[in-house]
Amino acid sequence: MATYNVTIHWHGIRQMRTGWADGPEFITQCPIRPGGSYTYRFTIQDQEGTLWWHAHSSWLRATVYGALIIYPKEGTSYPFPKPKRQTPILLGEWWDANPIDVVREATRTGGAPNVSDAFTINGQPGDFYKCSSNETVIIPIDSSETNLLRVINAAMNQELFFTIANHKLTVVGADASYLKPFSTNVIMLGPGQTTDVLITGDQSPARYHIAARAYQSAQGAPFDNTTTTAILEYKTAPCPAKGSVSVRPVSANLPRFNDTQTATTFTTTLRSPKTVPVPTEIDENLFITAGLGLNNCPVGAQASSCQAPNGTRFTASMNNVSFSFPSKISILQAFYNGVPGVYTTDFPPTPLLKFDYTGNVSRSLWQPISGTKVYKLKYGSRVQIVIQGTSIFTAENHPIHMHGYDFYIVAQGFGNFNPKTDTSKFNLVDPPMRNTASLPVGGWTVIRFVADNPGAWIMHCHLDAHISWGLAMVFIVENGVGESQTLEPPPEDLPVC
Ligand code: C2O
Repeated sequence: MATYNVTIHWHGIRQMRTGWADGPEFITQCPIRPGGSYTYRFTIQDQEGTLWWHAHSSWLRATVYGALIIYPKEGTSYPFPKPKRQTPILLGEWWDANPIDVVREATRTGGAPNVSDAFTINGQPGDFYKCSSNETVIIPIDSSETNLLRVINAAMNQELFFTIANHKLTVVGADASYLKPFSTNVIMLGPGQTTDVLITGDQSPARYHIAARAYQSAQGAPFDNTTTTAILEYKTAPCPAKGSVSVRPVSANLPRFNDTQTATTFTTTLRSPKTVPVPTEIDENLFITAGLGLNNCPVGAQASSCQAPNGTRFTASMNNVSFSFPSKISILQAFYNGVPGVYTTDFPPTPLLKFDYTGNVSRSLWQPISGTKVYKLKYGSRVQIVIQGTSIFTAENHPIHMHGYDFYIVAQGFGNFNPKTDTSKFNLVDPPMRNTASLPVGGWTVIRFVADNPGAWIMHCHLDAHISWGLAMVFIVENGVGESQTLEPPPEDLPVC
């Protein structure tokens, strides 16, 4: 770590009034320099379940990440029978190269970053790669016991399907919010998302593959098509004799990489366990497009720096603004201290130009503007955001993550959002609460939340390739009235730039 600037983000922790501890580089803090230190101080309030932490500068989170598990408060328990064992399952992504070099190379050439060489489960790629196969992760289970698996997609650039051979997964939570339990063979997680599942040892004592591989929605784009595995092992399974065929794990069936139907069935089945207080009156009704773009090669630039299709450079944007990170001071510090010239407050609440977002978009609309634009929200405002995917360059599923908040996902669909007909699909009774929404490929999703946490909060695509290209924006939520609605002062050890 010592050679890189770094910050740590506590993904999904609300950070009520403690935005200084949120972590995204140049949004809420300047980076911690090599040899420097910063103590993240925050209180976890009313949250329970599976979250995680990861570096939030450049592509360091490729290796700097871990699980963050919040157990039920003392004296309380889970809304389901207490699992016998619980195991975090961190799905990671691996390059046979320094990931910082991978992103630097992509930034230099303007092309897409190299795809990864492997996915991992708790750090190990598993049986299907040339390396590590005798160190494949083993998850124990006993006949008839019920265990909790806390699955976390910590991959950089890939949505993943996850399954276990012959075992049903009972989904009970996602992003540290409980769900109405349901049973499925396969789950899908975008980077940033977590899913808690119960499994029961109801199969014959043996070894079973736990497996994950890509859900890849962008057509024709290269991706890492490898499969990572771990082994679910019954304690009473026959002892494995080295190399004997009989102990080969039972193999797992994963959907095809482009099985959008399975991905969608999963995300649209999630429900909160009971009726939840979704805001019904809306003060801020935003419509934000999200997607890729191509910048024309800058005048005088070498062809080697314009390696995206047709001699362009890849970019990405929200409402046609490609987010550009400040480099001298964080947005939160600039806001708190009234430092001018760091950001502007003109992020458009709706697209300045309306077009057929998921249709055949004219090439003249493929090039966004670049800027550090924020959108201001009054404390307590009730916010609805229609996030609309675009088909610019290619349509793709984007995991859209919001810092500082959980939100209700009231609806999602394909094509262009239609305010006349699609509002009838809103679930205002028991929608799931999450911190990362899977924006369907060539589709839209609608989220709602109450802006009750003052600070500067980035909302971005959790595919790191896309955040590098600018698929992000920032909300500044103003203070309310009194101390309990006011951002705390910055800690004394907040890193200086
Ligand atoms: Cu898990 Cu801004 O990230």
